[in-house]
Amino acid sequence: MSVTEQRSSAVAETLSRIRAIEAEQGVSRASLAAIRSELIGLSARRDLFPQDEFPLSEGQGERFEKLSVDPDGRFELYLEVADKAVDTLPHNHTTWAVVVGIRGLELNRLYEGEGGVAGEAPLKLREEVPVTAGSGICMMPDDFHSIHMEKGDLNMHLHLYGIGFAHMKDRLMFDPASGTYLPYDPRLAVED
Ligand SMILES: [Fe+2]
Repeated sequence: MSVTEQRSSAVAETLSRIRAIEAEQGVSRASLAAIRSELIGLSARRDLFPQDEFPLSEGQGERFEKLSVDPDGRFELYLEVADKAVDTLPHNHTTWAVVVGIRGLELNRLYEGEGGVAGEAPLKLREEVPVTAGSGICMMPDDFHSIHMEKGDLNMHLHLYGIGFAHMKDRLMFDPASGTYLPYDPRLAVED
């Protein structure tokens, strides 16, 4: 079996266990922790994510490779590869999300409260979580986070969303400059 076939098969098996966890336990911090364990198991198979199979072209800096999504848009899994500096604004997803590391360091900043209700400003930093190989973070639908990566380091992380980007509704980002929440805009959410 080729690496691509092995990866597809490992992804499919992992997602099938993750669907079962959500179906049996619903969406809670405990069930997301169980989902994170499954995803960490997948990320530990570093042989399935060879760097040369997901190259960054000159000047590209970052790419999101969709590894899987259900026909109804649920359980969207990406491999994120980046070697540029990334700093996003704090944002929510309106669906649960789990991020785990394969290589490199994605610093996640998590913010106060059960999700920074619109109007609760400024958003206060709660904790910083370095996501590296073998570790990960879980976010409930209302949680706000921001992502920070250094230029030059090769980062490879898995990002799993309860429902895919095309279906996420009413997302918000927090703009520290104005101290207000704004509708999420992917063009504005990343500070280049
Ligand atoms: Fe995010």
